[in-house]
Amino acid sequence: MQTVTLNNGVEMPILGFGVYQIPPEQTEQAVADALAAGYRSLDTAAAYGNEEAVGRAIRSSGIPREDLFVTTKLWISDAGEDKAKPAFDTSLRKLGLDYLDLYLIHQPYGDVYGSWRALERLHGEGLVRAIGVSNFYPDRLVDLIDHNEVTPAVNQIETHPFFQRTADQDLMRERGVQIESWGPFAEGRNNLFTDPVLSKIAAAHGKSVAQVVLRWLVQRGVVVIPKSVRAERMAENSDIFGFQLTDDQMAAVATLDTGASLFFDHRDPAMVSRLGNVTLGS
Ligand SMILES: NC(=O)c1ccc[n+]([C@@H]2O[C@H](COP(=O)([O-])OP(=O)(O)OC[C@H]3O[C@@H](n4cnc5c(N)ncnc54)[C@H](OP(=O)(O)O)[C@@H]3O)[C@@H](O)[C@H]2O)c1
Repeated sequence: MQTVTLNNGVEMPILGFGVYQIPPEQTEQAVADALAAGYRSLDTAAAYGNEEAVGRAIRSSGIPREDLFVTTKLWISDAGEDKAKPAFDTSLRKLGLDYLDLYLIHQPYGDVYGSWRALERLHGEGLVRAIGVSNFYPDRLVDLIDHNEVTPAVNQIETHPFFQRTADQDLMRERGVQIESWGPFAEGRNNLFTDPVLSKIAAAHGKSVAQVVLRWLVQRGVVVIPKSVRAERMAENSDIFGFQLTDDQMAAVATLDTGASLFFDHRDPAMVSRLGNVTLGS
């Protein structure tokens, strides 16, 4: 499995499996199928409500812990120096693990600085191999880096053909932060799977649009964590290492960028307030 090297030397698979919006009762089977298909990196979050099911699938797979790369995320209602550690312990317990590979601050809201100090401590204690953030725009990322000890290893952000984040990626590269894409297919929005530019490239390689999109991201050095509940798509989405887009094809995909989110703007005050008030069930 191809990996990227994070800023603290930890190797992270460039391809993983995301479980957002998979209902808890379907998650164990989906993760079992993903592991059987060869995925070794799993991305969940306290807010997804399916950490326990991910943990069950890990245990029943029999795959050695050190062969897996497990990410989960701290939700806003658990932000702060005092709350982040118990929230981490809860995630670890639900996953049935004794350490995490990557722990992310899920959203750039609430007491992010307190959370980060707690994460730095967890990292220092060896309970998590790498720490990072998600949904941080460059201004907030730079501020966090400049006023703390540990630079986030990863920033997981919306990245797909319609919102390509190339300038953000350049800044992250300068600052030693690995970009990780969420929503690589934009969850199918904008008719991504039938887009003419992507379809033409796919036909030229005898591949699917999904494979072209993931290949395009991986070729840019972006970590991807596509989600599917269908075993045949899991296999398809992992078969992206045997072909390469040409410079012309990379340039053609570049024309699809709209420079804006297809979901919501993390800097919209109404959204900041709405998300900031979402609390987690037990
Ligand atoms: N940090 C954050 O705030 C954040 C936000 C969103 C997502 N994420 C993470 O990123 C992961 C991926 O993003 P996402 O789940 O939002 O969306 P996505 O991976 O862009 O898209 C998933 C959708 O594409 C479909 N699909 C998957 N493979 C396909 C294929 N080969 N052909 C056609 N359709 C296909 C899936 O349907 P089926 O399942 O029916 O196949 C599903 O509807 C998440 O699971 C989560 O781990 C993080």
